[in-house]
Amino acid sequence: MKHTLSLTALALTALPAFADESEYMPPVSDPVALAECSECHMAYPAGFLPQRSWSRIMATLEDHFGEDASLDADTSARIETYLTGNAADAGGRSSGLLYGVAATDTPLRISDMPWFRAEHDGEVSAHRLRKAGSISNCAACHRGAERGSFED
Ligand code: HEC
Ligand code: HEC
Repeated sequence: MKHTLSLTALALTALPAFADESEYMPPVSDPVALAECSECHMAYPAGFLPQRSWSRIMATLEDHFGEDASLDADTSARIETYLTGNAADAGGRSSGLLYGVAATDTPLRISDMPWFRAEHDGEVSAHRLRKAGSISNCAACHRGAERGSFED
């Protein structure tokens, strides 16, 4: 019940601002991050997660969603610098995408964040989801995802 209420509040208050702001999200521009992080899925734009999330992801690559995605220390440090430097809260910036994420919470999936659930839950047909294979396969539904466009 509490959950439903907070999502309703989210839909009414946070989303209009988000929708203006984020049909476009700059794609990964660092060539090393782009190469290493697009082997198994698209390279997710840094601006979708806060700094602490990218740091946690980069620190746990040897057990990354059930895969071993580990990298040597230099490569890993370079990618972490890029991702945290372009994160949703880089430079103390605030982002509507962090709405409903507690400061103590470290989301590891973009697809678990409240804005994402509000945009997708009930909006994505079972058929489309099956074709995409996973909700994490952004580019299956957002054809411009790799150019930063998340219009339908
Ligand atoms: C060896 C394969 C592999 C590599 C390389 C890899 N990943 Fe992943 N990643 C996965 C898998 C598998 C998932 C889970 C996908 C799913 O649930 O459909 C995932 C999911 C993610 C997610 C969560 C997506 C969501 O649902 O919001 C993020 C963020 C992520 N990866 C970041 C990275 C970063 C950053 C790198 C580069 C350092 C990277 N990945 C490299 C396999 C990989
Ligand atoms: C199975 C299809 C599907 C997948 C997979 C999917 N989306 Fe979506 N997405 C949608 C639909 C449908 C909407 C709501 C309609 C719309 O506004 O485009 C949406 C909306 C969005 C929006 C809001 C766009 C706007 O108009 O403001 C963003 C941003 C977004 N998705 C990002 C992502 C990201 C990032 C991923 C991967 C982690 C992802 N989506 C995966 C179907 C999908």
